[in-house]
Amino acid sequence: MSGVLIANLAYILSAILFIFGLKMLGSPATARRGNACSAVGMLIAIVAGLASSGIVSPQWIAIGMLIGAVIGASAARLVAMTSMPEMVALFNGFGGSASLFVGWATLAGGDVSTFTAVTILLSILIGGVTFSGSLIAYGKLSEAINSAAVVFTGQRVVNSLILIALLASGFMLCTVPAPDSIWLYAVLGLALLLGVMAVIPIGGADMPVVISLLNSYSGIAACAAGFAIGNNVLIVAGSLVGASGIILTQIMCKAMNRSLANVLFSGFGAAKQGKAVEGEVRPITPEDAYYILEAAANVCFVPGYGMAVAQAQHVVKELGEILENNGTEVTFAIHPVAGRMPGHMNVLLAEADVPYEQLIEMDDINPRIETVDVAIVIGANDVVNPSAREDPDSPIAGMPIINVDKARTVFVLKRSMASGFAGVDNPLFFAENTRMLFGDAKDSIGSVIGEFS
Ligand code: TAP
Repeated sequence: MSGVLIANLAYILSAILFIFGLKMLGSPATARRGNACSAVGMLIAIVAGLASSGIVSPQWIAIGMLIGAVIGASAARLVAMTSMPEMVALFNGFGGSASLFVGWATLAGGDVSTFTAVTILLSILIGGVTFSGSLIAYGKLSEAINSAAVVFTGQRVVNSLILIALLASGFMLCTVPAPDSIWLYAVLGLALLLGVMAVIPIGGADMPVVISLLNSYSGIAACAAGFAIGNNVLIVAGSLVGASGIILTQIMCKAMNRSLANVLFSGFGAAKQGKAVEGEVRPITPEDAYYILEAAANVCFVPGYGMAVAQAQHVVKELGEILENNGTEVTFAIHPVAGRMPGHMNVLLAEADVPYEQLIEMDDINPRIETVDVAIVIGANDVVNPSAREDPDSPIAGMPIINVDKARTVFVLKRSMASGFAGVDNPLFFAENTRMLFGDAKDSIGSVIGEFS
């Protein structure tokens, strides 16, 4: 069999592994296997690609893989779960820069057709935007730079001018595709500048959506680079990343009931002012909470960002086990955008070894929420705010929520009456069936557990 045929067969195997891997990522139960499956696919693709092109000798492939594996493994071990979005931002940036360099190197390789010149342009342009945009996203998330939205008058005009200059330089580069062309450097510089300009007006809290979008861009850049060098597996892998990133971005926007344009170009609910909420707050002590929980037939935990802040997932799991041993049915209702990154709650609960069967999605819990004896809201706020359903003027109007207010009793665990991410008052805290258990979620749950022993 010829080397090219073997490489192509290896590429088909990689593509199959990517697709099965992506499918398995769809459920927490199979996600780890899906990740491993895709990683094996990528390993096969890289080795086959490098070996068949004969540019690099096997020992360099082995050395490169070893260095990459050490960096990847230590990053995965050392980076805290709460810093995962930053790490993903960096990875996206590296992906973008890799495509940029592949495009650039192809141009340096000599004579290129107009089609190849266009694909080179796209890989440099999208790769450059992804690289600098991801670095800004990383900086905002890690608070290395100010995470607030940076806006100034005439910003859109400036951005439009950069875009026009970029397209014009790109056109010139495609007309005369030479590696030492001034237009190449113009495209490079303007693409990097556009990445920065596109991300600075977006606030830190909206970064997860931006990262998902940049992830998609890194895939599209890789796909363009695949066309530039005529590598099928890079085209397939790039398209899969590009498409899945766009789908995830859409899911997040839908779960927040916001359009992508709203996330990218304006602050959260800037134009709307919801109804003022007031009423009587009913605090509860851990001891009284214990008496109610002790008698409950079923309890549903609804975690949110505050659970991540308090790192309360392990005590939550412990309380769940105590309740189960007491004969109570225990479930965990997960809102798609609870927390600050996609799958945030799933990751935390998986870390605490909460069984997957106990996790219920929002659309499955809502129809039977009336039968829940006690809904325990742990540091969640916006995702359980009934004004999203009831107040058309609320900034979060129309955002799908978990209807905990319809449960028989609701415990809300948080430190104060402060609002959540969207900055909106929450009438749930004043509802007749709500009891507020004030304090750090980990401490409050620890105290309730103490009452059981
Ligand atoms: P939030 O609405 O942000 O509410 C979190 C609540 O946790 C706060 O009200 C806070 O109240 C409480 N809290 C903080 N630290 C705590 C601690 N140590 N112990 C107990 N409570 C604590 O969170 P959510 O309900 O999870 O909603 C997520 C929000 O983020 C949504 O608006 C969503 O659109 C947005 N968002 C999510 C994503 C993704 S992908 N997940 C992406 C972008 C935006 P106190 O200060 O009173 O304690």
